[in-house]
Amino acid sequence: MHADVERILFTEEQIKNAVKELGKRITEDYAGDPPIVVGILKGSFIFMSDLMREIDLNCDIDFMIAKSYGNATVSSGAVNIVKDLDTDITGRNVLIVEDILDTARTLTAVKDLLMDRSAKSVKIAALLDKVTAQRVSDLTADYKCFDVGNEFVVGYGLDFAEKYRGLKYIGVLKPEIYER
Ligand code: IMP
Repeated sequence: MHADVERILFTEEQIKNAVKELGKRITEDYAGDPPIVVGILKGSFIFMSDLMREIDLNCDIDFMIAKSYGNATVSSGAVNIVKDLDTDITGRNVLIVEDILDTARTLTAVKDLLMDRSAKSVKIAALLDKVTAQRVSDLTADYKCFDVGNEFVVGYGLDFAEKYRGLKYIGVLKPEIYER
């Protein structure tokens, strides 16, 4: 275990099994009308690459980088799209892949934006769901692997100050690392 990690929440094997299970569900749900799988960078990159290999459908992929600002109300105007989609999503199923759902500020805006582009459907697959977090909207994950509490977690794509993304497990960061 990395010296900055307090404890492991989900092991490599637990993640592998959960991603496999999720891929199976997505394969069944979208059979006949494969989605465009949209990764929200950077945190989703490892989850998405594993999930794609567990979805037995011919999916297109694309990526977005979005930064939200403002606190109270969230609208599609309140998100800064740093990198937009290359794909026309009109009439298509879109599956957004996110690392962790916290306040849902960014995803609420991104989902609104993609719905406005006349997608057939826009759903969310999140690796982790901070279930007790204060949400800015009633947005929920349509698919998820694990629930977590109000702790700062790293690994398997998730960072603190761009570090720890390459850890094979998901762990709780020692508070002294982000408090210093
Ligand atoms: P939201 O818009 O508040 O839902 O923020 C979601 C984003 O914040 C995620 O995509 C992560 O990049 C980041 N984030 C939230 N909680 C954590 C955490 O515990 N560890 C690492 N990143 C986090």
